[in-house]
Amino acid sequence: MSNGILKGKRGIIFGALDEQSLAWKVAEVCHAEGATFTLTNAPVAMRFGSLQKLGEKIGCEVIPADATSMEDLENLIDKSVEALGGKIDFILHSIGMSVNVRKKKEYTDINHEWMKKTFDVSAISFHKTMQVAYSKDCMNTYGSILGLTYIAAQRVFPDYSEMAESKALLESFARSFGYHFGVKNKVRVNTISQSPTMTTAGTGVKGFDQFFDYSDKMSPLGNASAESCAQYCATLFSDYTRMVTMQNLYHDGGFSNMGMNPTLLNNQTNME
Ligand SMILES: NC(=O)c1ccc[n+]([C@@H]2O[C@H](COP(=O)([O-])OP(=O)(O)OC[C@H]3O[C@@H](n4cnc5c(N)ncnc54)[C@H](O)[C@@H]3O)[C@@H](O)[C@H]2O)c1
Repeated sequence: MSNGILKGKRGIIFGALDEQSLAWKVAEVCHAEGATFTLTNAPVAMRFGSLQKLGEKIGCEVIPADATSMEDLENLIDKSVEALGGKIDFILHSIGMSVNVRKKKEYTDINHEWMKKTFDVSAISFHKTMQVAYSKDCMNTYGSILGLTYIAAQRVFPDYSEMAESKALLESFARSFGYHFGVKNKVRVNTISQSPTMTTAGTGVKGFDQFFDYSDKMSPLGNASAESCAQYCATLFSDYTRMVTMQNLYHDGGFSNMGMNPTLLNNQTNME
């Protein structure tokens, strides 16, 4: 299914690591919808080689950038504008990494230096990207900038650890920068709060399989897939959503508005 809703749009997509990545699916959908864009990831992620293959397949330039480095981001924006032949219409920030989760540190015994690194990679990089784009005046009017988030920013999911605060920060940056970018040249900034999804970042969270199932049963529509997330991103990059900004948008099959689902309750009762 494609309708050419991104025909003529130019973008930058961060965070496609492998075929499971949300950003990978977004790249495929944006390509099918007629956009041209550059792909980027941390230099260390280039070692896997998959991103280059995706770039070759859909004819995109791949530009390495550590999203915590202002220098790398400046280079990325300059090269992208040059490669795409004009200003940018959309940016996807699809980056997340927790050092404490990786190193299996409990939330009550966190290493705060690692926590700073986590915030830098997972949230401050969003502000840095927007700051570089803003100062270089590289966004077209009614451009669209998106970050991906999770409902642990609002509710407690104990094993999500410091990523909960990272996401709260990310969502706040979207609101605050959304104001400044809106006033400057009507650029929209939003976050999409996605269902648990089987990706490298997702499955790194302790007990992921259980809470994937829990969330799937709790949501009247079930968990939203990576493909449907990509389609939702494409609508937010398109001209059909020009007046949507500074929002955290749930893309979760209804999970965020549920209190109790009898399906889940019955399952639990049956298991006893
Ligand atoms: N998978 C889920 O369950 C889920 C749910 C909601 C939101 N999200 C969010 O979606 C986004 C994408 O994650 P994903 O699930 O596709 O996993 P993923 O592991 O495929 O993507 C995470 C990406 O972040 C990149 N990255 C890490 N450090 C970086 C740095 N310094 N500079 C540039 N890039 C860096 C990684 O290389 C990787 O490509 C993340 O923000 C994640 O928190 C994921």
